[in-house]
Amino acid sequence: MSSKPNDRALPEGLHPDTLAVRAALPRSQYGEHSEALYLTSGFVQPDAETAARRFAGTEDGYTYARTSNPTVTSFERRLAAMEGTEAAIGASTGMGAILMMIMGLLKAGDHVICSRSMFGSTLNLFGKEFAKFGVETSFVSQTDAAEWEAALRPTTKLLFAETPTNPLTDVCDIRALADLAHGAGALLAVDNCFCSPALQRPTELGADLIIHSGTKYLDGHGRVMAGAICGPSKLIVDVFGPVVRTAGMALAPFNAWVVLKGLETLGIRMQAQSANALAIARWLEAQPTVKRVYYPGLASHPQHELAMRQQSGNGGAVLSFDVHGDDPETARANAFHVINSTRVVSIATNLGDTKTIITHPGTTSHGRLTEAQRQAAGIGQGLIRLAVGLEHVADVQADLQRGLSTLGT
Ligand SMILES: Cc1ncc(COP(=O)(O)O)c(C=O)c1O
Repeated sequence: MSSKPNDRALPEGLHPDTLAVRAALPRSQYGEHSEALYLTSGFVQPDAETAARRFAGTEDGYTYARTSNPTVTSFERRLAAMEGTEAAIGASTGMGAILMMIMGLLKAGDHVICSRSMFGSTLNLFGKEFAKFGVETSFVSQTDAAEWEAALRPTTKLLFAETPTNPLTDVCDIRALADLAHGAGALLAVDNCFCSPALQRPTELGADLIIHSGTKYLDGHGRVMAGAICGPSKLIVDVFGPVVRTAGMALAPFNAWVVLKGLETLGIRMQAQSANALAIARWLEAQPTVKRVYYPGLASHPQHELAMRQQSGNGGAVLSFDVHGDDPETARANAFHVINSTRVVSIATNLGDTKTIITHPGTTSHGRLTEAQRQAAGIGQGLIRLAVGLEHVADVQADLQRGLSTLGT
């Protein structure tokens, strides 16, 4: 029972919203409407000669899922189309994507420049793990491009930025960093987890590579772990392909299928979650027990104008706020009180879910950093992060209000 494959090629120039639901591998001979899940680790070869050519890379064709799988290819094609890059390659997690990037691009003696406000595991990966293999990293200000420039060395091969940052939502100027990197013969990679291609397309601003944790907004429902690198074919196919094939941080087909379907609603989720976040951020600014709100969509955010330019006029769906507390212990107790008083939002460490998540970064996502690293990243004990989902704004506000209104000012 099979029909002819539906192989009508998509026309050029489709909008990202259309690509989000249409770009993928062509349908199989069965003409399935929803993308097929090829839950297979191996692929049967028609004959030994074809197998030999496919393993040698002289003929296209699937061989083994550590190298590739059609469902993973569908995800990669759709994500690349949405980011506006030539290609993409899946990874088991977002951290796996960063590991793949560094294994592919760098060797002992090479130098990287990173913002010191990046995600905690990224800081540790560069500061501890890559350092063991002789890759040196300078950690600089997220927002002061002069610090990035001053850190450049003849051995600098990569500038790596994340914008907005987790959890303080500091925004860096992608175009300025791309110019710096290219002037020094280096590449710029941008972790686009927080905005996703629905709000920010870093390659349009000069970035060479984009890192994704598909675990976040790309899936959008907190179901699976996934990661990806987007960029030019010459790096994705020739440099990162061999790394994933030999090192094995491959994206599982099932996870690829889940994230592929997540991409279809990414645009409307990001718009709706950003609108909710803006409403909650504005409301938090008016609460007497809240010391400061960090959200790029607020006029009070130090890089508000840059963020609006870079992020399609949206602040994104993650905000953080400081509660009062004269010393770190009091601030932490107050933050814990607000978190523990919630009954709707989830106490968890992920972000990018339809369910709002509340987190104490100082003891969770950034808990393994040294106190000095935490202070350098500006993460105090009174800081609470809210990754805003799709609940009604009034219910989330009431949930926060329960704890905020019972703190002394
Ligand atoms: C900005 C950012 N980049 C990368 C990662 C790592 O992604 P994963 O958890 O999929 O490895 C995270 C995870 O929280 C993150 O917030």
